[in-house]
Amino acid sequence: MDWGIKNRLSRIIKPDGHTVMLAIDHGYFLGPVSRLEDPAKTIKPLLPYTDALMLTRGVLRNCVDAVNDIPVVLRASGGNSIAGKDLSDEGITLSMKEAVRLNASAVALSIYIGTDHEHQTLINLSRLIDEGEEYGIPVLAVTAVGKELEKRDARYLSLSCRIAAELGARFVKTYYCDDFEKVVKSCPVPLVIAGGPKLKTETDVLRIAYEAVRQGASGVDMGRNVWQSQNPVAMIKTLRAIGHEKASLSKAQKLLEELRKER
Ligand code: 5RP
Repeated sequence: MDWGIKNRLSRIIKPDGHTVMLAIDHGYFLGPVSRLEDPAKTIKPLLPYTDALMLTRGVLRNCVDAVNDIPVVLRASGGNSIAGKDLSDEGITLSMKEAVRLNASAVALSIYIGTDHEHQTLINLSRLIDEGEEYGIPVLAVTAVGKELEKRDARYLSLSCRIAAELGARFVKTYYCDDFEKVVKSCPVPLVIAGGPKLKTETDVLRIAYEAVRQGASGVDMGRNVWQSQNPVAMIKTLRAIGHEKASLSKAQKLLEELRKER
């Protein structure tokens, strides 16, 4: 692996092979989503417990103080919105020069396998990877499902993750699912999981994080299930215990309860 790519990736995925990333890129297609209306306010208390921030250049420039030494994964795809016809109709929205200017540790782009825009998003991914490799910037492929959340099964996610890795993505963001191990085993690059829309209980969040890591994921890149939780700091600290301290599920549950009381 080229030194620049390796160095940037190692800022995100820590020496223990794990990472707890915080996703706050949602505004690029959802606008001011609940609890992310004021991104600066949402991010500030979580920053000390975050290994890398996944966000757009607009939020980085306007809502994150440049003195923070935090690796950033810049969203590089978009051009769609929740009000539009089709969430899969994305293009590349960031140049590699801009990513360098913003000191990005990686850039992220969504692919939509099995949709009308499958080809377009895979070509976007390939182009971004070509450029990223030239500049030493790793690309994170996001196996997006848009509104079709029911697509998230091992067969579909293995297909999407493997295609992303074959095209050269250095790491992949996907979803947890039953038989997740199959997804991990058939993908030759590190995987992190999204949380998706807010889950019913916070134990469900801990469970998917714990199971994903146990079955071989490099960690989480969660958004809504952290900053929309009852106590976002308690949640991210507990995710760190799962990701970096190998906490069991019951230990994580107890820790979350204790941390919630701390306020
Ligand atoms: C959509 C995305 C999101 O913008 C986001 O990063 C997902 O995070 P979460 O589902 O945990 O809120 O990548 O495909």
